[in-house]
Amino acid sequence: MSSPHTSLKSFNTLGLEISAQALYIADTPEAIITAWQATQQANLPFIILGEGSNVLFLEDFTGGVIVNAIKGITLEEQDEAWQLHVGAGENWHELVEYTLKKGITGLENLALIPGMSGSAPIQNIGAYGIEFKDVCHYVDVLNLSTQKRVRLYREECKFGYRDSIFKHEMKDNYAIVAIGLRLAKQWKPVLNYGDLAKLNPATVCAWDVFNAVCHMRQSKLPDPRVTGNVGSFFKNPLIAQDLAEILLKQWPNMPCYPQANGEVKLAAGWLIDQCNLKGYQVGGAAVHRQQALVLINENHATPQDIVALAHQVRNYVGDKFNVWLEPEVRFIGGQGERDAVEVIS
Ligand code: FAD
Ligand code: EPU
Repeated sequence: MSSPHTSLKSFNTLGLEISAQALYIADTPEAIITAWQATQQANLPFIILGEGSNVLFLEDFTGGVIVNAIKGITLEEQDEAWQLHVGAGENWHELVEYTLKKGITGLENLALIPGMSGSAPIQNIGAYGIEFKDVCHYVDVLNLSTQKRVRLYREECKFGYRDSIFKHEMKDNYAIVAIGLRLAKQWKPVLNYGDLAKLNPATVCAWDVFNAVCHMRQSKLPDPRVTGNVGSFFKNPLIAQDLAEILLKQWPNMPCYPQANGEVKLAAGWLIDQCNLKGYQVGGAAVHRQQALVLINENHATPQDIVALAHQVRNYVGDKFNVWLEPEVRFIGGQGERDAVEVIS
């Protein structure tokens, strides 16, 4: 289905007033190919979208937006695990609830993350001690140029912190059409993050973890249906250990998370908060008052308001800590994706 100059307001969780030349709702891999061919024939750029919860449109998109709406979940019981094959257009949070209702555990820490299941591998979604890679078995990808479908197993996806092969080698001309999850029957609760540590490991069940995660998220993160946002606007920066030690001398309370590779992850929200930026506004855009890492569309923000705010936040943090934040959010210009750091530098 296609229509000329369609509003994308309900297709980006920032709620920006943006339009595209054509919108295609694709509920099968074949429909994605048909829509892609239409954009190629018209010599127009295209972008595939899930729920638009990790994109910032910088201006009207002068091409076709293909919305992934591929549904379907199949479940296979094995001796030690449940195997799920999930259409890329299944909502992620509904998938988490679906598994728990069937008594299948393992996704509870990833509750309430907006977006489609097929988008989850792209930035290797993560929260409360778990990442998508921990439950991923495979990702099915359509090469739009050859129309061939390939299956990438977990090791081939090059997952990293908010990173995967789908942001690099397999970014352009590829559509994720399904994911495969492997959820072990033997449940090991992951309780090391935030308030989850208060739960009793001897008595806790997966629904307790789910409820605690939902509670923590709802207390800090704005609901995009009420206040436009894209979750964490910036990634948590990874820095060298010697730089972290220098910063810790000056700010001994600075949260630090040592990584297996020797780097140290800092909390971007804490860095922004230290610059007293909660509630700081540029035009209709603002830094969220409950979580400084979230930029919000407070009052009819334009893309330029969000970009100007992100630019200022980055400079305040850079000037104070000499740590330069990089957006987690993908920036989409009129013709396609733009380099986000370049746009806000
Ligand atoms: P979109 O924003 O629609 O797309 C993201 C990118 O992927 C775009 O570049 C798009 O072109 C591309 N893309 C989308 N679908 C496909 C496809 N099928 N094939 C190929 N390319 C595709 N993220 C976390 O990791 N952890 C969190 O805790 C978290 N919390 C959030 C809280 C809030 C309130 C919000 C608004 C966002 C949060 N996010 C979080 C970010 C976001 O939810 C995830 O990045 C999510 O996976 C994005 O899904 P989407 O379907 O909305 O993707
Ligand atoms: N902090 C502050 N002030 C703030 C915000 C945070 O001091 O305004 C401090 C907190 O007190 C805590 C630390 O910073 O000590 C980390 O904060 P939090 O636990 O809220 O997590 P985060 O690092 O801000 C990350 C992810 C979230 C994910 C949560 C929970 C990134 C970029 N963000 O946020 O993911 O939900 O951890 O695991 O890694 C997203 O990617 O969109 C997202 C929301």
